Amino acid sequence: MTRRSVVLGTGSALPARAVSNDELAERVDTSDEWIRGRTGIRTRYIAGEGETTSTLATEAARKALEAAGVEAGSIDLIILATATPDQTFPASATKVQAELGIKDCVAFDVAAVCSGFLYALTVADSMIRSGAASRALVIGAETFSRILDWEDRGTCVLFGDGAGAMVLNAEESADGGRGILASKLHADGRYNDLLYVDGGPSSTGTVGKLRMKGQEVFRHAVVNLAAVLKEVLDIAGMTVEDIDWVVPHQANARILEGTARKLGLAREKVIITVDQHANTSAASVPLAFDLAVRDGRIKVGDVVIMEAMGGGFTWGACLLRF
Ligand code: UT7
Repeated sequence: MTRRSVVLGTGSALPARAVSNDELAERVDTSDEWIRGRTGIRTRYIAGEGETTSTLATEAARKALEAAGVEAGSIDLIILATATPDQTFPASATKVQAELGIKDCVAFDVAAVCSGFLYALTVADSMIRSGAASRALVIGAETFSRILDWEDRGTCVLFGDGAGAMVLNAEESADGGRGILASKLHADGRYNDLLYVDGGPSSTGTVGKLRMKGQEVFRHAVVNLAAVLKEVLDIAGMTVEDIDWVVPHQANARILEGTARKLGLAREKVIITVDQHANTSAASVPLAFDLAVRDGRIKVGDVVIMEAMGGGFTWGACLLRF
């Protein structure tokens, strides 16, 4: 038997307001045809007044706790992946902790942008396997709409807001049992200037806006994601045939298709939500995961592989038996 991190429940949250491509085209020089054709995006959710990264994260966490059937008080670790925290500090994870009424636990944020959830999941899994934690709430939550340059049509149409969460529980698991089986993370800071925010507390003293060289990010994404998926399968001693579902970071439908093709993965096994949510950065993987659990596609016992790549560059993948 091996001590593993088993997913007990998932949850997600979206802002109240959905914004269609046509609605965006009223104030940005773009069109539904361009956005759908180049990215697959049809709509995105945009946070309104009173909706922040921590409020979305808290709602997703509550739903994950409910699905898991456990009390908030039993959580001893909260890791929140975000690049858009409510404030520079305190960590938004501690705000979620307070909202959930958890008196004492470990709580911190992880900043790895679009790969943030996989970074958070891997850290939580390491802490669970080492015995440093026994029940964790891992959340990806973002309000990217607040760091978009609404004058830059090359980026502002691509992103949306949202949150997703998972409850992980330490369990003794047999070979072939449930739990996180393998994960692999990467970063290469030489590519900082391909995807970044042009501000920050220590450089400009401002929040800044997102900047991206989309085509170059696209090229790296397909290569890096296919490679890291293969790496994780090798670590677990599995092959593409063993995978029931792929839950990828939802940046662009063409990246998802390109990566699946490169690996020889059937398109029907790829969970796609980019059409509904656009790119929600660290929230995209847990949001898509929760959707597929709730609509009955991902079932207990299924082998699921998750992947993401984002600013840094950072990228990674994680394989689990649900
Ligand atoms: O989550 C982090 C990871 N991020 C990603 O993975 C994003 C990766 N990149 C991409 O998904 C794609 O590169 C984009 C969707 C961002 C852009 O697609 P593209 O096919 O690379 O287009 P492009 O940037 O080369 O632009 C093509 C044309 C340009 O016009 P010209 O120069 O050919 O006349 C742009 O000005 O499309 C124009 N354009 C637009 N037109 C209408 C750019 N944005 C828009 C827009 N509406 N919103």
